[in-house]
Amino acid sequence: MGNENEYSLKSIFQLVIGKWWLILILAIVGAGAAFGFSKYVMPLEYRSYTSMYVKNNNTVTGDAVNLNDLNASKSLVSTYIAVLQDDAVLDEVGNELLKKYPVDKLKGSFSIDNEKKTVGINSIRDCLTMSSVDDTEVLKIVAVTKDPALSADLCNIIADIAPDFLVRVVGAGSVEAIGPAKIYAKPISPNIPKNTVVGMLAGIMIAVLLIFVFDFFDNTVKDTELLNNKYNKPVVGEIHRFTRGKKKKNEKDERKTLLSKDFPFHIVESYKAMRTNLIFSLSTSDKKIFAISSPNPSEGKSTTAANIAITLAQADNKVLLIDADMRKPVQHNIFQTKNKVGFSSVISKMETSSKCIHKNVVKNLDLLPTGPKPPNPSELLASEQTEKLLEELSDKYDYIIIDTPPVNVVTDAMGVSKSVAGIFLILKYGSTTFDEAEQAMKTISLANMNMLGFIMNDIKNKGNGSTYYKSKYSDYGYGEEPKEKSDKENK
Ligand SMILES: Nc1ncnc2c1ncn2[C@@H]1O[C@H](COP(=O)(O)OP(=O)(O)O)[C@@H](O)[C@H]1O
Ligand SMILES: [Mg+2]
Repeated sequence: MGNENEYSLKSIFQLVIGKWWLILILAIVGAGAAFGFSKYVMPLEYRSYTSMYVKNNNTVTGDAVNLNDLNASKSLVSTYIAVLQDDAVLDEVGNELLKKYPVDKLKGSFSIDNEKKTVGINSIRDCLTMSSVDDTEVLKIVAVTKDPALSADLCNIIADIAPDFLVRVVGAGSVEAIGPAKIYAKPISPNIPKNTVVGMLAGIMIAVLLIFVFDFFDNTVKDTELLNNKYNKPVVGEIHRFTRGKKKKNEKDERKTLLSKDFPFHIVESYKAMRTNLIFSLSTSDKKIFAISSPNPSEGKSTTAANIAITLAQADNKVLLIDADMRKPVQHNIFQTKNKVGFSSVISKMETSSKCIHKNVVKNLDLLPTGPKPPNPSELLASEQTEKLLEELSDKYDYIIIDTPPVNVVTDAMGVSKSVAGIFLILKYGSTTFDEAEQAMKTISLANMNMLGFIMNDIKNKGNGSTYYKSKYSDYGYGEEPKEKSDKENK
């Protein structure tokens, strides 16, 4: 239990890392937008400043400045700042500005009252910052406007009129500008590198937020633990996505199986692990016939059925694979056999089973393809002939695997419920939804079909090697050893 938190942190991290491309895209978009906005939209701002020295008049005695005098000067600075920010002072500053600058020039930095021909006091105040330098008796006035000369002039105007106001109002002390404000031609804002970084960080944050929102609304099956808790059925196999073989021009449908040369080793291993689990699941049933299905088309039923058949055959079992998906037959393509006659031919008594079964398509593995497409596949599968055929074949094989159409689309698979030990339901990682799984489970239960377990297929790696989804394998007790076991089986 102790590491549950750690685990969820890890899974959150992997969830985020798994969508690195979204983070990258939004980081670039954010940085680009901030850069463009800073460079082309935001106005340039220029800063200038002047410093004034505040003297306490008591020190005129000629003696050295003592500590008390300094303290008095410091508190005088605060008083002066308050006075200088008063409306009357700023009003005067506005008038001086109007004398020096045409209204059009001032408009860029201040609000102008066109009727009264005055500069808005608050807009002047917004351009100014006054403070004492490091808590000394030096008063610093900083102006930021959209024109470098205007910033300097604003400082100088205040420095000019300040002494008059202060002496008249405060009486005590005196103030003197240390030097005139200079014009600084380099803008202080916008800070393009800083804004770009902020834009990038904002993009990353939005991306992470989106990832969590998407994940919250994601109802696809990813978590085997959740699946197991919900239906109390084991997940007998967890098959990762393998890269597909490239379609060559003249080849209709090239599919990878365990037998393909470049088939990833770790997936071969997970099929072997699944084989062990399947054998366990079937061990309590006297029938060794089972169906493979899934809620929707293209979730990997046929691929998985073929690979299970191969891996069982490799463990020295006599195996028959029946392609019962007469609506979308593929097994004859996978094993490159003909499909002129097959399952449908046997059931409709047009051919004998021995004539239709392709022997040893792989060592120990026989294949019964679909045969020609009948008008009523559903009825054929549920017919007495099918039951008889399976009964008859079950004596000849250790395992019979039936590849079927998707449960949520057609009910064909349910037709064989009486003849089989049960069904394994494939769910496609991050694609099949819980609702679809639920619907399939209902169909299976209504048909009195024995549900043997789930197979999670097409699991995508998130992060470095490990997966975001939680595995429940080890909880069945027979999950972690299969590697060893299957190796023994192979010998
Ligand atoms: N684990 C997997 N990794 C990569 N591709 C897969 C995987 N499982 C199935 N596929 C591919 O998905 C496609 C559909 O698979 P298929 O077995 O025909 O599905 P179904 O029988 O459910 O319609 C095929 O091209 C198959 O190669
Ligand atoms: Mg199929």
